[in-house]
Order: sequence, then structure tokens, then C-alpha cells
Amino acid sequence: MTSAELDDIQGLVARGYPDLRAASYIVLRVEDAAMARAWLSTLLPQVTPAPAHPTDFALNLAFTAGGLAAIGLQDNVVSQFSNQFTAGMTTPHRRRMFGDIGSSAPETWSWGGPNTPDPHLLLLLFGRDTTTVAERYAQLSASFGGVSELVRLDAFTDLDGKEHFGFADGISQPTIEGISGRQDTPPNTIRLGEFVLGYLNEYGQYTDRPLVDNAGGFNPLPSDVQGSGRADFGRNGTYLVFRQLAQDVRGFWRYLASVSDDPQHRTWLAAHMVGRWPSGAPVTLSPDVDNAQLATANDFTYQYSDAFGLSCPIGAHVRRSHPRDSLDPAPGTAGSVELDKRHRLLRRGREYGPPVPPDSLYSDPPANDPERGLFFICIGANIGRQFEFVQHSWVNNAKFDELYDEPDPLVGYHPPGANNFSIPQDPVRLRLRNLPQFVTTKGGAYFFLPSLRALQYLSAG
Ligand code: HEM
Repeated sequence: MTSAELDDIQGLVARGYPDLRAASYIVLRVEDAAMARAWLSTLLPQVTPAPAHPTDFALNLAFTAGGLAAIGLQDNVVSQFSNQFTAGMTTPHRRRMFGDIGSSAPETWSWGGPNTPDPHLLLLLFGRDTTTVAERYAQLSASFGGVSELVRLDAFTDLDGKEHFGFADGISQPTIEGISGRQDTPPNTIRLGEFVLGYLNEYGQYTDRPLVDNAGGFNPLPSDVQGSGRADFGRNGTYLVFRQLAQDVRGFWRYLASVSDDPQHRTWLAAHMVGRWPSGAPVTLSPDVDNAQLATANDFTYQYSDAFGLSCPIGAHVRRSHPRDSLDPAPGTAGSVELDKRHRLLRRGREYGPPVPPDSLYSDPPANDPERGLFFICIGANIGRQFEFVQHSWVNNAKFDELYDEPDPLVGYHPPGANNFSIPQDPVRLRLRNLPQFVTTKGGAYFFLPSLRALQYLSAG
């Protein structure tokens, strides 16, 4: 097994800090490079590394491509990052791939779009409770140097492990070799290089990453393990995708009420859209009723026991965002699992905004109803092969796995003509039609989560 240089990797890669129940994400802009570097050097001792198990507070730090350039990283280093990262999330091609169109268009975003200043830095703060985060934020913001705050995104909502539609979230995660510190099944054990740069990935290769010349001066960076003789700026760093996704919770349940008068049947329908029950129990293992004993079950496949989706629909959110053993060309084989392992996401998102009170789930929203949703965050060494592929080829693909007009029923883009959802049944399938859009994009950007040594290198200019 590869041994990871844990001390050099930021903590968020190793854990989502589940005991730190509150988080704030501060989006910053570099105004003065020299001052920002000086400020960064004072922040370095506070950055939480992977071996730490904080019980009170954690801090991690990420940069956009524009941010790396603005703080002084040479252009010829920034240009060695992946083109997804340097081009950003809002290119015309990506808007189409992600369904960032109409009410999700970047022009409407509250940050990260063309009508707001470009984000440079993302400060991720996690605390035991909201007071801890608020206090640490107050201390940190008083000492900001050379940077200005664009927006502060508070994830102060604690739904006790559920997301706003009412389903347990954060259950299925890949186990990362050399980092997760636990044993798992071979299909769910993923090579380190899929999630951290500078290590072998699921192709047995190293993902491209920026290297710098060793010519004189202070250089804390490790040497390129591939033997180029250059220093490795990327090693122990990784990419972080951030999307602010608003959820129309009343729209979701009201749509289901338009389909069924029976509240129990509505929950059954919703669970088949998600692919897990509210408790988290996988629908493929318990198709008829929720079963809390299976709440964290994750060792299952689809092709072997449920090839036609009679238990868990082919188009359900969890089945299409992680098809396990059901990928072509040879579903049900080791080869299929091998392909699946190249498209895993390490999810680190958090909920924001007040929950909808259960007794007003079916009422008209009040005037000025506050936005609520998910700060979707995922980590991976290859934005194109992981996040972009999953979002485009699986989540938003109406023709996923021989479906015809069915994007992800929960989180997908639902244009007219491609907004249906089938629940296979014997003898006749159930079909939900004209699903409205339940999730809208409100902001986002691609970030790089540097190694601790790369942060030192950046702060030294
Ligand atoms: C507001 C938006 C979203 C909501 C409410 C949501 C909700 C959920 C829920 C309830 C689960 C099941 C619990 C679990 O397995 O952890 C889940 C799993 C998952 N979601 Fe989402 N999700 C959202 C957006 C996305 C997006 C945009 C993607 C990918 C681009 C995604 C990818 C995944 C993956 C990979 C899994 C794990 C599937 C598995 O391994 O079985 N989700 N999501």
C-alpha cells in the first residue's frame, strides 16, 4: 500500500469533520500580493493537517487559479494545472454540461459568476458549534491582510445527518488507500492518486501536476517522484469543487403530492428517486419499506441482484452517480467495477439555510422565504474525470444506461422533453412526468487545496 505524507495533506481530504457541526466558507480576493503572502504565513500554523482529529475547530484553505496567480505564483506554474481548473466552472461548454442555464445561469449567481468579482481564496472554517465558528471568524477577519472578503457562506444548519429533502446524506464515501485508516471491500478501496496528486491513481499512473524549477532560493517542496529533477508543487494537494445548490423543498414535496394523495406512497416515490430511504437504507436492499437497521449499509451492488432496476430504479440519484458494478461494456464483472473506481467523488458538502417546518411542507412559500440547500463540495485529483464526468455523463444524461428522457430526478437539469422518471415494476412500470427543477445553482468555483508545503512556498513568494 502507498504511504501518504499525511503531515503535508490538508485535513479535509482525510475527514469531513462530522463532530464539528458548524462551518463557514469565506470567499476572499487578493488585493495586495505582498501583504496577502505575509498574512498567509501567519495563517499557516493554523491550517489543520490530515493526521489531526480536531474536536473544537479546524481550518483549511484553497485557491482558484486566479487566486494562485494573484498571490504571486508564476504564470508558467499556474498553466500546468489541469485545464478544467484554469478555465473555471462557467465556460460556455461547462454551462451546457452542468445545466447551468436559465435560473441556474452564472449571470444569476451570488458569487463565482461573471457579474461578481472573481473569487481567489476559500477559507474553510469548521467548529464544534456556531459560536465557535463565529468567534474564530471574528478573530481571523480582524487580521486579514492584503485580501478582501467577497462573501461569507454559513453552513450553520444542523439537520442531524439529513439533507433538506429529508434523506440521510454523507453515507457512501470511498475509502482512500493510505488515508482513511480503515479496511474496506476492494471495490470501495480507491488508490490514493485518485484523491491526492503525486501518487498512483486507478490507471496506475500519476495525474499531471505543476512542477517548479529548483533554481536557488527557498524551496520547501518535495522532489518530483517521477524523477524529472524538479520540485513538485502539486504533490499532496488536490482539487476542490464547490457548488452552491439551492433546493426547492416545497416544490419537491408538492410535486409528489400532485402525483399521490397518500403520504406514505409519496415517501416511497421520493426514496425511489434518491435510491435510499430517509433513514439511509438502500432501496435496492429494501425496496418496499424503510429499514433503519440498513441505514449505513453500503456493501452492495446493482447488476448482480437488481439488473433491471426492479428494486432501485436505474435512474435513481445514488445509482446513477455511483453505478458500482453496472457499467458497460461488461456489467456485473470486475472490469465494470474497475471503471467505476475511476469516477468516484469524495463528498464534503454541508447544508445551509433554515429547514422547512414539517407542517408547512405543502403550503405556499412565505414571502421572502430564505434560500436553503447544499454547499456541494467534492474533492478529487481529476476534476474532468471525476466531478465533471459524473455531473454530465451520469447525473444530467437523460439517456443514462439505456434510459431515454430521464436525467437525475432529484438534482439533475430538467428541460422540457427530458424531465421524466421511471420506476420499473412488474408487470407495468410507474412513470413520473414533467418533473420540475428541484435544484438550482447559485454560485460556485473550482479550487485547489494545496499541500502544507505548497502553502509555505506560496507565502514565501
Ligand atoms: C442538492 C443537491 C443534492 C442532494 C440533496 C443530494 C442528496 C444525496 C443523498 C440523499 C444521497 C444518499 C446518501 C449517501 O449515499 O451518502 C446522495 C449520494 C450521492 N450523491 Fe448526491 N445530492 C445532491 C447533489 C449531488 C451532485 C451534484 C452529485 C454529483 C455531481 C452527487 C453525487 C452523489 C454521489 C456520488 C453519492 C453517493 C452514491 C453512492 O456511492 O452510492 N450528489 N446524494
